[in-house]
Amino acid sequence: MNTLLSASVSAAALDRTTDVGPEVLAIRGGRPLTGRVDVKGAKNLATKAMVAALLGETESVLRDVPDISDVHVVRSLLEVHGVGVDDDGDGVLRLDPRGAVSAHMEEIDTHAGASRIPILFCGPLLHLLGQAFIPDLGGCRIGDRPINFHLDALRKFGAVVEKLPSGIRLSAPGGLRGADIELPYPSVGATEQVLLTAVRARGTTELRNAAIEPEIMDLIAVLQKMGAIISYEPNRVIFIEGVDSLSGYDHRCIFDRNEAASWASAALATDGDIFVAGAKQQEMLTFLNVFRKVGGSFDIAEDGIRFRRGGALKPVTVETDVHPGFMTDWQQPLIVALTQAQGTSVVHETVYENRLGFTDALVQMGADIVVHPHGLDGPYRRVGRRELEQAAVVTGPTPLHGADIVVPDLRGGYSHVIAALTADGESIVRNIGIIRRGYAQFLDKLTALGADFDVIG
Ligand code: EPU
Repeated sequence: MNTLLSASVSAAALDRTTDVGPEVLAIRGGRPLTGRVDVKGAKNLATKAMVAALLGETESVLRDVPDISDVHVVRSLLEVHGVGVDDDGDGVLRLDPRGAVSAHMEEIDTHAGASRIPILFCGPLLHLLGQAFIPDLGGCRIGDRPINFHLDALRKFGAVVEKLPSGIRLSAPGGLRGADIELPYPSVGATEQVLLTAVRARGTTELRNAAIEPEIMDLIAVLQKMGAIISYEPNRVIFIEGVDSLSGYDHRCIFDRNEAASWASAALATDGDIFVAGAKQQEMLTFLNVFRKVGGSFDIAEDGIRFRRGGALKPVTVETDVHPGFMTDWQQPLIVALTQAQGTSVVHETVYENRLGFTDALVQMGADIVVHPHGLDGPYRRVGRRELEQAAVVTGPTPLHGADIVVPDLRGGYSHVIAALTADGESIVRNIGIIRRGYAQFLDKLTALGADFDVIG
């Protein structure tokens, strides 16, 4: 051992506490992943609910918060803004916004790291303090990821946006007022921006072409607990009646359906058998349909879902889309499983313009994947809501072999690890720290499922 930490030691000691942890794994593949993993609160709700606590006049309590670095980033950003954050253990955070203050751009920049979350502080900070700063925004490198929808919406509420060399400064000299907003695309982040701003704006806001992901519905539930008045109609229309004040909330996060889908695809790829405790059918209907079409078998229980193969894997054609479509975050681990299916699958990515780059590493490992950066022509063209499409044509089954690969982003990184576990021989997977952004106790879970790996850096 010495420099090599054994899987069990590394998992318990390093994955849990801080954002400093293993960066390089040596993975020996070929063993099915079998056992149980517990999936807790959704990354894409917990971080937003933490920001919502800024809007309350009393303490909020958030439960089932995942121990991931995106949560740690938001926690530091809240603390920089004077919010008291106490960790009661077992995923319970207490957030007290009563001492909220402005923060310096450099402090925000330092704590935000690669996260895009600071943009969501704008509305709450404008209400609370009359101004907000946004540094250069990070997040996964999966496309340009602009913030124009956010800034346009904030301007409609009456915010003044100034671009400075160090970032963006927003102010609201006359306070924020309800607005009539139609998003060019049902963006998750821009919908959250509008919700977090409109709840305390003067008057009513009508938001059209809103995102309606389950995590957004859960954020609406959080805001309603705080005293907000929010209703929605079919066809992506949300009405928000601004109120004068909001209180804290006590809320248990919705489960992380992206993590649940990741482990489901890991079971398919490695020919394993994984019970994902905490997964629920309702929020995963679209995923489960595709999982079944690929040849997966699942059993739905009260406390989770069991995933495994139901026979030989079959090819599929899928197109990523906004909810209730097939999530863009589900395609990467699925593509690993599709390398083991008999025939040609096509995955159309229509949400981000650059989210198939991770397949280069799979090709290095022996997969037959051809990426069409501008989508497929003719009858194969699939464009959902936007003129944005990449397509991956995956032909299988191809045996995968070990390789030396570098993780590019969160979901791509998860897929690289699963590919290495599917492959024959040893792989070196680098830059795995990124996976801590969204998968809690990742190495613990791999160990529990029987993965054979060492931490080597
Ligand atoms: N977009 C714009 N302008 C904007 C905002 C978005 O053009 O101002 C574009 C984006 O570039 C992208 C599309 O709209 O092409 C969709 O972006 P959206 O705003 O919906 O995504 P997001 O809020 O930045 C969240 C999740 C992502 C998830 C997407 C789609 C968080 C922190 N992130 O991102 O999660 O893929 O919604 O559901 O909630 C992940 O978990 O790995 C992840 C990337």
